[in-house]
Amino acid sequence: MPKRIGVLTGGGDCPGLNAVVASLVKSGISEGYQFIGFKKGFEGLLDGGDYINLDLDAVRGITHLGGTILQTVNRGHFSSKIGHGIGKKIEKTIFEESVKTLRELEVDCLVAIGGDGTLSTAYQFEKYGIKIIGVPKTIDNDLEATDKTFGFSTGVDIIAESMGRIQTTAVSHGRVVLVETMGRNTGWLTLYGGIAGGADVILIPEIPFEYQKIIEFIRERRLSDRYYTVIAVAEGAIAKGEKQTVRSKAKDGENQLGGISYQIAHKLEKLAPEEFEIRVVVLGHLQRGGSPNAEDIILSQRFGFGALTAIKKHFFGYMVTLKGQNITFVPISEAVRRLKKVDPNSEVVKTAKGIGIFFGSTEL
Ligand code: F6P
Repeated sequence: MPKRIGVLTGGGDCPGLNAVVASLVKSGISEGYQFIGFKKGFEGLLDGGDYINLDLDAVRGITHLGGTILQTVNRGHFSSKIGHGIGKKIEKTIFEESVKTLRELEVDCLVAIGGDGTLSTAYQFEKYGIKIIGVPKTIDNDLEATDKTFGFSTGVDIIAESMGRIQTTAVSHGRVVLVETMGRNTGWLTLYGGIAGGADVILIPEIPFEYQKIIEFIRERRLSDRYYTVIAVAEGAIAKGEKQTVRSKAKDGENQLGGISYQIAHKLEKLAPEEFEIRVVVLGHLQRGGSPNAEDIILSQRFGFGALTAIKKHFFGYMVTLKGQNITFVPISEAVRRLKKVDPNSEVVKTAKGIGIFFGSTEL
């Protein structure tokens, strides 16, 4: 029975990470387990280990804290994802060094809390004989293996609140405002945040948009005295026939997205010169910062407790997931590199259309 558990957080940070750690440690200590937390994701396994003891004092008061007390990276020696669905093999020597650290520190099992990249790395660790359990994390909510990831609900709250604020100034000035949101290659954050925030147009990667159609939509609104238009733009949104806008190409890890809304503003100004007054707001890391909301805290606590359950049941190589109302477990091998995309024909997209939201295309 494993007794000493290593914990790490990998990939981009996300509200709820500390709540997972606190839940796992609190519930585990009461059952006789010990915990250490590796810093900066898997990087903390190198050079003999960079870690802190996770006792009750270390996790007291962190449940509501944003970010991660363990710190995190989404680049470095353990980057195992270089693009949408594209994996990368990590060097053998890096694994050997990590395994040595784990043995020296007498760590029996590792809990890796992270997104697709972290889980891909976790899967490779398993092949080196390391007992590992995955906990899914991403504000993007784009992992197929789980119905929901923590951080998403908080991100949606922030987008909805921001869009509501932007709407009042857009109305006052009769402007077109593009609000760019995160989400990488999927449109979940933009769709949910856009609907809740009262967006007039929502542009997501799953539904390629046409500039001319957006112009026609804005013109129609003006004919019925609605001089403002708020457009929620996913950072991964794609114009029909064009390629995704990449902000910078990464040497290791995934390309950085962002900036598409400036491109759209520029194009709209070119196609309809001086017709609209356009502004751009990129919400960026605001969507990931700060405390988790109540829904995310509870999901995080359930995932943390679920990781302890997995340890007790010897579900090594498994990831904790939410299916329907229940916490359950799936093999990490089946969970990685499977993106959950928005279905353009789903009920939620139909609802949005039903209430008058335009998706930038008349095709669907
Ligand atoms: O995956 C979470 C996410 O916030 C994406 O929505 C976004 O594209 C990316 O991470 C940003 O990453 P970074 O922290 O490297 O800017």
